[in-house]
Amino acid sequence: MKKSPLLCFLSLVLLSDLASAALLTTFIASDLRDPMEISLAPNGDVFVVEREGRVLRVVPATGTMFVIGQVPVTALKEENKNSSWAREDGLLGITLDPDFAKNQRLYLYYSAADKMLNRLSRFSLKDGLLDLSSEQMLLEIPSDRRDRVCHHGGSLAFGKDGLLYLSTGDNTNPFESNGVAPIDDRDGHDHANAMRSAGNTNDLRGKVLRIKPTEKGYEIPEGNLFPTGNAKARPEIFVMGCRNPFRMSIDPKTNTVYWGEVGPDAGNPSDKGPAGHDEVNQAKTAGNHGWPFVIADNQPYPLVDFTNGTTGVMTDPKAPKNPSKLNTGLTDLPPARQALIWYPYADSEKFPLMGTGGRNAMAGPVFYYDAKRPHNILGEADDRSLITFEWMRNKAWKVKLDENENFVKMEVLLDGLQHPMDMEMAADGSLFLLEYGSEWYFNTNGRIRLILPDSGNQAPQVKIEDRGNKTYAVTVNDPENQKCEVVWYGTKGQKDAVLGKGENYTLNIDGVEQLRAVVTDEKGQRGIARVLLNAATMPELTFSFPKKPSAIGFGETLTFQVAGAMQEKDLVVRARYIAPTGHDAGGPVLPGEAAKLIEAKQCLACHQVDTNSVGPSYLNVAMRYRDDPAALKNLQKKLSTGGAGAWGEIPMPPQAAVNEQESAEILQAILGLSQGMAELKSKSAGELRMPAAPEGAAAGGAWEIIATAPMHTSAKIRIPAK
Ligand code: HEC
Repeated sequence: MKKSPLLCFLSLVLLSDLASAALLTTFIASDLRDPMEISLAPNGDVFVVEREGRVLRVVPATGTMFVIGQVPVTALKEENKNSSWAREDGLLGITLDPDFAKNQRLYLYYSAADKMLNRLSRFSLKDGLLDLSSEQMLLEIPSDRRDRVCHHGGSLAFGKDGLLYLSTGDNTNPFESNGVAPIDDRDGHDHANAMRSAGNTNDLRGKVLRIKPTEKGYEIPEGNLFPTGNAKARPEIFVMGCRNPFRMSIDPKTNTVYWGEVGPDAGNPSDKGPAGHDEVNQAKTAGNHGWPFVIADNQPYPLVDFTNGTTGVMTDPKAPKNPSKLNTGLTDLPPARQALIWYPYADSEKFPLMGTGGRNAMAGPVFYYDAKRPHNILGEADDRSLITFEWMRNKAWKVKLDENENFVKMEVLLDGLQHPMDMEMAADGSLFLLEYGSEWYFNTNGRIRLILPDSGNQAPQVKIEDRGNKTYAVTVNDPENQKCEVVWYGTKGQKDAVLGKGENYTLNIDGVEQLRAVVTDEKGQRGIARVLLNAATMPELTFSFPKKPSAIGFGETLTFQVAGAMQEKDLVVRARYIAPTGHDAGGPVLPGEAAKLIEAKQCLACHQVDTNSVGPSYLNVAMRYRDDPAALKNLQKKLSTGGAGAWGEIPMPPQAAVNEQESAEILQAILGLSQGMAELKSKSAGELRMPAAPEGAAAGGAWEIIATAPMHTSAKIRIPAK
């Protein structure tokens, strides 16, 4: 059914008016980089983790943001943004210990930097900082990172029952099954087969796990899906059959678990299964939620033979089976359960208020009305309402549940959000909403909203203007035109202090990393604005050429100068020959076969071709050893024994999965990267000699001349080749 555009427009205006009038928002944190999950401390502080490993503590009253740690993780980096490796890895989840006030302990779930697995660990804070040496590992879950494999879930939460819940994804490439069930049982397609993970009772992926942490590790609580001692089923599993249970919450009274399930892409039903649906799920007890055999309200998928596309047996939701040859668990699975709410890309007949378009379901807290606590963001009639939200649709809903926790009705609660990522309700009834930022990756505008009930008084809107000469001015727009007080705060490391008052402030101390204006109106509502003074604008390198040639030939020299704030000894100037093929990958590339082998052997966990990662870039390796005839032999030895010291203090683990023939093939390809390259180090002015012509070099092409130094933006220029 098509709605008239006017009707759409009207209902939109009404909804957003309602939504914004009902609640009051203050942005207490901003400038976050791909923030993933928050956890609230009893004293009101908000802890937040970011995808690339930072852990921050936010003080809501003053908007102070302290960086308290950096966990070494595997995560997609901007310089490799098109890599098919580890697309959704990183620091994924956080929750504080129920006894945090006393023991300063917290739990993190992250993609290990040193191994292909995701790890659940307990850490302690020491003097307010994350103490990495306190790490106590609870669970390690092997996790594939190849071939655009994704879905890691990663939400952590404690129930009132003192049990720790962790959601994990199916760790499967969804792109090779055209948006239906990824159940490709062919050899070599395990990365596209969720029967090995979510549908496998003997695998911790695609699950909600439930454990009881102890001093030494953890115990299995009563009531999980499978009893201990079953060699074909893991006792940690509370819920199985999840695809990407991204954000989860636990009912504070009943311990019922809620999670949003990000669903598959099929736009329409076909002979291979139903249209893709996202789900909001509810588990009052342990159970099987069906993936990859059923979806939504238990709509089944047929088995598919991926060699020829023919369909086979249709799943019976009451008695699903996992027939995969990669299944290491039970063949007969518990009966599948349907979702609480489900919706496709198109209009949902059953849940029309979900709207249409992209999907990314998430579950927030269950609201209970409590007249005795300071805040109730919803009314008494909303007692026992689940708050759900949508990362793609940028909305939140309140879902009224009856006394048996069954769905009664839903209404839009918030609109116009910026990729809402996580939501937690504090003991005083205030609601914290984490927004991921405007992009899919590499955001620097993630933020946290503090949401309170409307008291008829909106927060002042605040902006800081840089007037030059370290002078800052604040502009305040208070919706009620009240008199506002402006207090300036500065943060430096773990210290935060009041620096001054009034509309203008001149910074007169060194080393302040973050300056904030906290503006309070007469009734105590706050608005906060901030400037980052050490924002990562890296100083630039620039080239100049005293006698710049219009073209350079092989073996000729180029006279250059580099200007910049770098230390001369750190400077590297290189020339790279680009053949006249019309294709340039934007940097040196490994030949296809070797590239595949390197990917298969998981070297990319720590190495990239042209940027330093955990290990040195392969180009740097090639340039260092290019005149060393023993390089191949020595590096083969290093691969098999591992070790540190050649590039830094981080050791390379022995690469046991690589045999001698493979290591020769890989290393020859790596060393071959120096072909067509020239280099001059530690000289800000000099002559760079182009290499001799490679055999069979065609005429034409170009040289890319590039100057690099650590923590500087590179200088780059192209000159035609003769
Ligand atoms: C867990 C991380 C990790 C993995 C996985 C890894 N490396 Fe390394 N690699 C390193 C580190 C760290 C160094 C730097 C060691 C040093 O300073 O001596 C290194 C160094 C190297 C070097 C230079 C050695 C030298 O002595 O100059 C080569 C070549 C290399 N790695 C190739 C590989 C290949 C090929 C693979 C896959 C088969 C691989 N690495 C997998 C971390 C890793």
